[in-house]
Amino acid sequence: MKKLSARRRHPLAALVVLLLALAATGGLYAAFAPADKAQADVAAQSLAIDEGKKLFAVGCSSCHGLNGQGSSDGPSLVGVGSAAVDFQVGTGRMPAQQPGAQVPRKKNIYTQAEIDQLAAYVASLGPGPVTPEPQQYNSTNPEDISRGGELFRTNCAQCHNFAGQGGALTKGKFAPSLEGVDAKHIYEAMQTGPQNMPSFPDTTMPEEQKKQIVAFVRHTTNDEPNPGGLTLGSLGPVTEGLFGWIFGLGALIAVAIWVAAHTTKAKKS
Ligand code: HEC
Ligand code: HEC
Repeated sequence: MKKLSARRRHPLAALVVLLLALAATGGLYAAFAPADKAQADVAAQSLAIDEGKKLFAVGCSSCHGLNGQGSSDGPSLVGVGSAAVDFQVGTGRMPAQQPGAQVPRKKNIYTQAEIDQLAAYVASLGPGPVTPEPQQYNSTNPEDISRGGELFRTNCAQCHNFAGQGGALTKGKFAPSLEGVDAKHIYEAMQTGPQNMPSFPDTTMPEEQKKQIVAFVRHTTNDEPNPGGLTLGSLGPVTEGLFGWIFGLGALIAVAIWVAAHTTKAKKS
């Protein structure tokens, strides 16, 4: 007893007690909190999958099959991933309506919460590209725009035009204009390659490059001012040069003729 009270009075006793208490709370927290959070996440996830399965049965199974296995009216969705669902439903392409050369974008009929549930269900069928987080497609570096421009010209411009205005492909198919497309959907289009578009998985195009392309497309189709009023198709120096050549030189020639006509008249009189 004496020994203990002697120790209690030791100058370091308070510190030891404090450290012990901290270690105990830390240990308890480590033992319980993350497990609780992980469990809650799993529960929320399986709830989303259940809800998604119900939405899927009503809106999608007629073409994609009750278990997403596909049918004569729609492909199997096993392994397309949550990104494909977020893109297809978020841009209103799905649910598809009338058959045609290509399923076009239209007004989206689901809320983002419902899309997330559909995506969670389809992702549960097999692993595939995952819906990107905002920091993956929102660039904060202004240099990304010019780097993205180079990447866009080598990888995308042959179909979507140099300024992302879109263009026709064969057999009634087309690469749509990228004007007004959400940054997230641009990213997902590259991840999943909808319909006739090739996909650009991280193995061939790292995440960083996708982010740069998104920055370029958003800048070019949404933010770039056209001080001249007309874009002339934004085809670059050739059209713009030709325009200047024809109208600029034409005006100069007209002035020269006018001047010449007036000088000869002046000489005669
Ligand atoms: C009328 C039939 C029809 C309905 C209804 C329909 N789809 Fe589709 N879906 C298609 C067809 C056809 C394609 C293939 C289009 C293509 O790639 O040419 C497709 C493609 C897809 C793809 C792209 C697959 C890939 O390989 O990237 C996803 C994802 C998808 N559908 C999800 C859905 C979801 C989710 C719903 C319900 C909200 C839905 N679809 C409803 C017919 C349908
Ligand atoms: C071989 C031609 C081709 C190439 C190359 C191509 N695309 Fe596409 N892209 C398409 C077609 C076709 C569609 C329409 C698909 C659909 O409607 O499902 C499309 C659709 C898109 C969409 C969806 C637009 C919308 O209206 O929702 C985006 C975004 C997009 N492409 C971005 C890109 C980017 C970025 C690149 C380069 C990394 C690229 N594409 C390369 C043909 C192409």
